[in-house]
Amino acid sequence: MLPSHTERCLAHRQSKRITSSCLHGHIQPLSRRGAFSRRRLHTLGAQKQARSESVLDLDAPSTSKPVAQEVYQVADAGLPQSTPSGSNSLAELAASNPAGLATAAAALGLTTFGLVKLFSKGSRSYSNNVGDEYDAWTEEGILEYYWGEHIHLGVYSEAERAAGYTKKDFKQAKYDFIDEMLRFSGAPPNPQSILDVGCGFGGTSRHLAKKFPGAQVKGITLSPKQVERGTELAKQQGVPNASFEVMDALAMSIPDNSYDVVWACESGEHMPDKKKYVEEMVRVLKPGGTLVIACWCQREETPDKPFTTKEREELQFLYDEWAHPYFISIQEFERLLKGTGKVEGIVGEDWTPQTLPSWLHSIWVGVVDPWIVISKGPRIWYKTLREIVTLIRMHKAFESGLMEYGLIRGAKLPDGSMAWSQQEEQKEPVAAK
Ligand SMILES: C[S@@+](CC[C@H](N)C(=O)[O-])C[C@H]1O[C@@H](n2cnc3c(N)ncnc32)[C@H](O)[C@@H]1O
Repeated sequence: MLPSHTERCLAHRQSKRITSSCLHGHIQPLSRRGAFSRRRLHTLGAQKQARSESVLDLDAPSTSKPVAQEVYQVADAGLPQSTPSGSNSLAELAASNPAGLATAAAALGLTTFGLVKLFSKGSRSYSNNVGDEYDAWTEEGILEYYWGEHIHLGVYSEAERAAGYTKKDFKQAKYDFIDEMLRFSGAPPNPQSILDVGCGFGGTSRHLAKKFPGAQVKGITLSPKQVERGTELAKQQGVPNASFEVMDALAMSIPDNSYDVVWACESGEHMPDKKKYVEEMVRVLKPGGTLVIACWCQREETPDKPFTTKEREELQFLYDEWAHPYFISIQEFERLLKGTGKVEGIVGEDWTPQTLPSWLHSIWVGVVDPWIVISKGPRIWYKTLREIVTLIRMHKAFESGLMEYGLIRGAKLPDGSMAWSQQEEQKEPVAAK
């Protein structure tokens, strides 16, 4: 026969174990406790067990409020007894052990100060390190695990935003983005050649190569690991018309007038010379070809609306966390394109509303499936914590209007194959960054 609850309880007391079920049945609420005071519990030598077991005991009959309150009150018995009345106010603690309290406060203050300091400055500022950073991200595998083949934001329609971004598949949002970017570009329906400038793992290159099987698609990046992974995935997916190469977008070993479409998705952020970036892409574009750029931009700074000190500090953090030398505005991209004197039909748009959910969505996918991060150990935990802080600050910067998501397109003039020197006189001055 099973022992009764009282028998089990007595046995627990004899063995100096008290569980929440014992407390529930046999200890009076502390408000009425009288004889069964904290000191009595102390005599039983059981506060610690009571504290942990009362919470952990799976036998506990109920977690209803009165029981829970009672349990936590008894658990409080584990706190140091500083006065005869058993009161534990901070003032009394301070009076009984001022040095201890001061040390604890100082430790807490220092830790908070240290953490604030640690996260107030970017940790991966730009110093020709873009290839290395992407090599590291590729090797860790975490970025690809969560973001899939694409390292760019996703797009969320108005209806999807109203329904809640978590309802949309995070990776699908990125494929949708490419389709929207293609539509925005106004590229002809059958391009024969596409250059993907700053191609990441090559997700976009492969997607476009599948869409246009008659086209040759080349992706370039500074990261050898991305070239390796992109090539591997193209082989696995049977996409022979997509190829990848390590090449600097600012000095491409590609002849003038080579591509029908030049595509640049979220690579401009990393360029230390945005003017050269735009000029190089226009150079390799065929006359009549399409250039389309997607890029995180900062808002235009005007004499009427200069950046505040706080905004400058925030931008500096966003530059310095993910190897960005600086950002420019959408309008500045338009001016740079115009400044080449070889591009017509220039249009810039701000896609912040439809891309904004991406920042928090990327945190959400990690929250619901954290195991890959957990399995990687402390270095990656710390790095991930930094990524989360940066994602939140990016979200805030875009939400507040400090940052804008730029989409810019243009077509190379039919006579745009003229050498740069012949164009010089027609050029309009380009505002300095
Ligand atoms: C945010 S990822 C975007 C990847 C890709 N476009 C996508 O949408 O998935 C930025 C890419 O730009 C590349 N990149 C940055 N600076 C570059 C440069 N100077 N030349 C070539 N690629 C560059 C990086 O190596 C990386 O592949």
